[in-house]
Amino acid sequence: MKDDAGLIRSLDARYYTDPQVFEVEKRGLLARTWQFACHASELENPGDYVTFDLADESLFSIKGRDGHIRTFYNVCQHRAHQLVSGVGNTRVVVCPYHAWTYELTGKLRAAPNTKSVPGFDAANICLTEVRTEIFLGFVFVNLDANAAPMDDWFPNARAELESFVPNWADLKPLEWVEIPENCNWKVSVENYSECYHCTLNHPTFATGVIRPETYDIQPQGYCLRHTTECSDLSQMTYDIESGFPNHDKYSSWFLWPMFSFQVYPGNLLNTYHWRAIDADHVVVWRGWYSVDGTDNPVVRRMAQQDRATTVEEDIHLVESVQRGLKSRGYVPGPLVVDPRCGVNSEHSVMHLQRWMREAIDG
Ligand code: FES
Ligand SMILES: [Fe+2]
Repeated sequence: MKDDAGLIRSLDARYYTDPQVFEVEKRGLLARTWQFACHASELENPGDYVTFDLADESLFSIKGRDGHIRTFYNVCQHRAHQLVSGVGNTRVVVCPYHAWTYELTGKLRAAPNTKSVPGFDAANICLTEVRTEIFLGFVFVNLDANAAPMDDWFPNARAELESFVPNWADLKPLEWVEIPENCNWKVSVENYSECYHCTLNHPTFATGVIRPETYDIQPQGYCLRHTTECSDLSQMTYDIESGFPNHDKYSSWFLWPMFSFQVYPGNLLNTYHWRAIDADHVVVWRGWYSVDGTDNPVVRRMAQQDRATTVEEDIHLVESVQRGLKSRGYVPGPLVVDPRCGVNSEHSVMHLQRWMREAIDG
């Protein structure tokens, strides 16, 4: 939003601190956008399931005998008991309360003593299904039955990622690093989505991986696309000769609102997943992958180095911002929007904050 001088001001502090705003986000944004559920390799065999929470709902994704992965609200259609918990494998889904039994497709298969109920027809009863898409082996769900497909939200992202990670179908999670941050999820996402702070705060990243003067972030639908040239690749601490195209590039695709795919030189895929806990807390999951999920010293070292440098550096930044947003002395400042864009511009935050405002204010 522009002020009288034509400057674009950062969002008011209450967007990041007010529990009411977070409630609005849960009912609106989180229920209308594509959200990460699990990796498809966690659902390898028919009957494999993974339970997860989204917007105060418990959900589970499960693999059918037809090979399809479906997602359901984790609630029995009898008298609302929860059906499954954690991860596991099951032949059919049996409710622990009165043993109503569902097929892996969600259809009610059997329910004790219901044959003696006049008019009871099991064919009319089915678990409530949730929109599910598999995106490069990652399972995403959307609670909005009418949501546009991911390819509409994030044009070209799938094809671009396929060209950066040609072996994506062979990848499985090797390591998930869990990073609790005492800040609103939007503070963490904004911090991820600009590199105006990189040179000062991320010496390893800014000098070891990227050439900051070539860094840029541009919207592509509801994706924020990070591109850069890499610094001297002969200085890389690992062998990047993967034999794949784009092995000499760094790139990232942030999928609004809470997921990002990153590819490091050597076609190394890694991911960010923000899980908003409440107005003041978010947990960031950093995912690292390898072929078949087998141990890979390069990936392990990258995960460790990233946790010790960029991630650690960012935690202090975002937590300080969250404290600052609660200060009576804070007046939202102008974003540094350079018409030429580039690394020292916050045009990407401007786009992000427009989406945030739309989500909250409608
Ligand atoms: S609530 Fe599930 S069988 Fe009764
Ligand atoms: Fe950062």
